[in-house]
Amino acid sequence: MSKNEEIIIHPDANKLFHFAAKDFNARAIRAVNEKGFFSVVLSGGNTPKLFYDVLTTHEHYRNEIPWAKIYFFFGDERYVPADSPENNYHMSRINLFSKLPIASNNIFPIPTDYKDPEMAAHTYAQVIKYHLPFDLVYLGLGEDAHTASLMPLSQVVKNSVENKEDRLVASLYLSKAKMFRLTMTPKAINQNGDIIFMVSGAKKAAAVKEVLQGKSDPLHFPAQLIHSNNGRTLWFLDKKAGELL
Ligand code: 6PG
Repeated sequence: MSKNEEIIIHPDANKLFHFAAKDFNARAIRAVNEKGFFSVVLSGGNTPKLFYDVLTTHEHYRNEIPWAKIYFFFGDERYVPADSPENNYHMSRINLFSKLPIASNNIFPIPTDYKDPEMAAHTYAQVIKYHLPFDLVYLGLGEDAHTASLMPLSQVVKNSVENKEDRLVASLYLSKAKMFRLTMTPKAINQNGDIIFMVSGAKKAAAVKEVLQGKSDPLHFPAQLIHSNNGRTLWFLDKKAGELL
């Protein structure tokens, strides 16, 4: 663990997400007070739903957080329509945006309506180039130690390992899921402020152990590619996700 990395293990998922909500509250207020806005990159999958449930069901978060001054971006997207249940923007809209005073023009979804996914990736790269560096990046962790859509043995991960990945956003095809994904690259993710991995549950414990304490092998454990260059890399875990550490 380098000097700007920290692991915080919470007794259970409920305490993890309440801690994360309090942390988000403080970060947003500080950033808006200092510079008038707060920019955050959201992760996908299911874990954020529990986090968003805390933010949207507690009055003081609803009232205290300067929602109108926060810009929302996405670290990755499944290349399916924006109204598909599998779409990360859709998940965030249903669980977060639709429940709070958040203006749609402060939300920057990854486009999934281009014929060519790589063209969509290039378009989103142009969008984020204008807003980088973001204040905060949230990431999840897959059981195979992927993060965002940086999948083990994928070309974008291979390129990143060889320091040849110059794209900010890349497309990749997941043959098992028969689906394209778009993902911010480590080049895009690592240049921001703090990065927070939020990981819950025993199913992730082996991946957490490999990424944090295993041998360096980012090709097979892509989350090892993530280290903030401008802030801290934080791991918010519940006890089950951290049980092998
Ligand atoms: C996605 C995510 C992905 C996710 C992990 C964990 O699009 O699925 O961005 O990186 O964060 O796969 O997913 P869960 O939170 O559902 O376990």
